[in-house]
Amino acid sequence: MTPTGLHDAPRLLITAGPTHEPIDAVRFIGNRSSGRLGVALADEASRRGWPVRLLLGPTHLQPEHPRVVVDRYRTASDLGVLLAMAQSECDILIMAAAVADYRPRVDPGQLGTKLKREAGTRSIELEPTEDLLAACSGRRAPGQYLVGFALEPRERLRSSAEEKLRRKSIDLIVANPLETMESGEIEATLVARDGTVATTDGLMPKSRFAPWLLDRAAAAWSRAVSPATAD
Ligand code: CTP
Repeated sequence: MTPTGLHDAPRLLITAGPTHEPIDAVRFIGNRSSGRLGVALADEASRRGWPVRLLLGPTHLQPEHPRVVVDRYRTASDLGVLLAMAQSECDILIMAAAVADYRPRVDPGQLGTKLKREAGTRSIELEPTEDLLAACSGRRAPGQYLVGFALEPRERLRSSAEEKLRRKSIDLIVANPLETMESGEIEATLVARDGTVATTDGLMPKSRFAPWLLDRAAAAWSRAVSPATAD
């Protein structure tokens, strides 16, 4: 394997889409992520000739570019396994997946059957999932550049992004207002570990945002791996 940092183009690992955490054989707890942005990023990077692996959750969307390598996941735990296998082969990880913070605590037997309706209320106990991005950060190779996302109410966009950047110990956070989920457009604030902040010029289509973000992430990655030669 070529050591990290000696590639002309960065090897990209992207996660995208929701997670589905099962309650029983037919029900789950999920979220409204479409995976559109991660798929757009994968297509754009492949068009540039960058090697791309996309870890894609339960969504009907698929990349168009034939060279994108796609692995599918359903739960946060499945995604964790795929990340642990693929992380060492990437230079930039873009964690666009909307990963569940909690999953239903269920007996394994319940996953093979369907809960029956009963009288009265019923509750589902939730247990925390692993913070996958923080785990990636804990085992990162030198020179690996980690990008996370933060979906936040507008009024605390910047402060939450800065807090997540520190807590997960990553290089860049793409902060978006809550309305971004399910939308074809995005309005983003990028907060980098070195304190620099960049914002999109208002709303832009996710397909146009993909090159905007890749340009910035690749420039920061190449500065990090070869600080003397990068511009
Ligand atoms: N993330 C992750 N593992 C989780 C939850 C989130 O890797 N169990 C990643 C997401 O893919 C995203 C980033 O962490 O890139 C921020 O996700 P977000 O849900 O906004 O943050 P949380 O850490 O879940 O914090 P909070 O729920 O308090 O906002």
